[in-house]
Amino acid sequence: MARHLITSAIPYINGIKHLGNLVGSQLPADLYARYLRARGHEVLFLCATDEHGTPAELAAAKAGKPVDEYCAEMWGVQKELSDGFRLSFDKFGRSSSAQNRALTQHFAGKLAEAGLIREVTEKQVYSKADGRFLPDRYIEGTCPNCGYDRARGDQCENCTKQLDPTDLIDPRSAISGSTDLEVRETKHLYLRQSAMRDKLNAWIDEKTDWPVLTTSIARKWLNDGDGLQDRGITRDLDWGVPVKKGDEDWPGMEGKVFYVWFDAPIEYIACAKEWADEQGLSDEAWERWWRTDKGAEDVRYTQFMGKDNVPFHTLSFPATIMGSGEPWKLVDYIKSFNYLNYDGGQFSTSQGRGVFMDQALEILPADYWRWWLLSHAPENSDSEFTWENFQASVNKDLADVLGNFASRVTKFCRSKFGETVPEGGEVDAAIMAKLQGFDETLAAYATHMEAMEVRKAAAALRSLWAMGNEWLQDAAPWAVFKEDPAKAAAIVRLALNLIRAYGVISAPFIPDASHAMLSAMKTEDASWPTSLSEIATALPADHDFTVPENLFRKIADEEREDWQSRFAGVRT
Ligand code: MF3
Ligand code: ZN
Repeated sequence: MARHLITSAIPYINGIKHLGNLVGSQLPADLYARYLRARGHEVLFLCATDEHGTPAELAAAKAGKPVDEYCAEMWGVQKELSDGFRLSFDKFGRSSSAQNRALTQHFAGKLAEAGLIREVTEKQVYSKADGRFLPDRYIEGTCPNCGYDRARGDQCENCTKQLDPTDLIDPRSAISGSTDLEVRETKHLYLRQSAMRDKLNAWIDEKTDWPVLTTSIARKWLNDGDGLQDRGITRDLDWGVPVKKGDEDWPGMEGKVFYVWFDAPIEYIACAKEWADEQGLSDEAWERWWRTDKGAEDVRYTQFMGKDNVPFHTLSFPATIMGSGEPWKLVDYIKSFNYLNYDGGQFSTSQGRGVFMDQALEILPADYWRWWLLSHAPENSDSEFTWENFQASVNKDLADVLGNFASRVTKFCRSKFGETVPEGGEVDAAIMAKLQGFDETLAAYATHMEAMEVRKAAAALRSLWAMGNEWLQDAAPWAVFKEDPAKAAAIVRLALNLIRAYGVISAPFIPDASHAMLSAMKTEDASWPTSLSEIATALPADHDFTVPENLFRKIADEEREDWQSRFAGVRT
């Protein structure tokens, strides 16, 4: 028994996430958390919304709402969707929490004490009418390259040329439209990441068991020329964590906030405090997960994220933690993912392309999506969602194999023996032969789950379902019954017990159907089986059960075509 801290990359607050986001962090993290809990480990599984920064401000402005109100609302929307997908977070926090504000300021203070922060004076565009410095994307003007008259200070949307705000012809504030702009000097804080290169290198060198996707990205940034540059950690924005050194004001930094990528990962820690505070627990309750001087040296910490997040988790956040000089827990394992594409292109939030979490749940229950997404997780390369593939997987794996097994067995038993587990002798060896290899596959399934090999785990689970289904087909208790009812009863008893076992082992992938299987078997016994002989005797003779509602329905061709065209365009 061990203690496992698990975090998923925290999703940006602006807008509902698509299925590509979901499968790149939250969903596999949930799979792992559920598996470890089922094996009796103590788990703290955390996620939150990433609420600060320009994108949140822009989205709020677009929605015509004050940014704090917008964030509170969107947190509610994201929370409801994560519940809908059965993401079993112990806490779904907010990076705008008071806990994160205090902790972010605390870290900045410690880094300053350690001499790891330097102040830099920069030139930046100031808008007198707005009374503030403007981030690059808040400045609009005419593109010097193509003449597009609404190019942004960071990039022209029309010709994609990367720009500096000073390149724009006739620049104006995107907030007020004012052209009364001037370049002023302003001070910013830089985290001296370069001073920590050797430490970070040595730390990454220890991680010989990490996925290549993770370490290759980290090394590229550590060693490729000027990858690990000092990083600006402050911004001239209203919305964010005010720049302070612990509790103290930071002279010259009035009105500035920390950069969103500085405070967001600190929310992993703050979220644990939010979790403890919410339950009225003391600080020891969360510190035993996060402070190696308070018990966290026994914790195994695993992070899940998309590949674009890897540099921040292998370099920047560890630099913050190491640089603080305090005994905070560093991550033990980073599981990262490639991208999921959508029907010949990319999922895109800005273009509204693909299927989004709310839309998915409007069409079908969470298990259907969880199964497809996890069994096609983009682990070793990018993968692609197509409606045909989705339909085929659901219809075959879930409906024809697992669902069919559960329904056939229970209905047959009800009609011949009633709704109790029948007595019956040994299932004869010839019949059992079909289930050979079951124990090995069950063991392989556990091994893959422990290693977070998501696709391999899904494949092992699918083959356990298929073995049961084929075995039943072959054992044919409906035929045997006519000659030898006792033998048929023995087959059925094993089959009913397999339903219980499937209910237990499938739960990390498809929690709702698993729950339905276990409640149909009227059992609370969710102990994880490790062999067929153990499985065969869990439900004794005379134990009551009920026939479950259809576990899965099939997706018809017309439906698939309908969805295909409904989601072909962009979301408005
Ligand atoms: N919001 C970021 C994204 O969706 C992830 C932030 S993860 C954290 O890409 F480390 F900052 F927490
Ligand atoms: Zn242009």
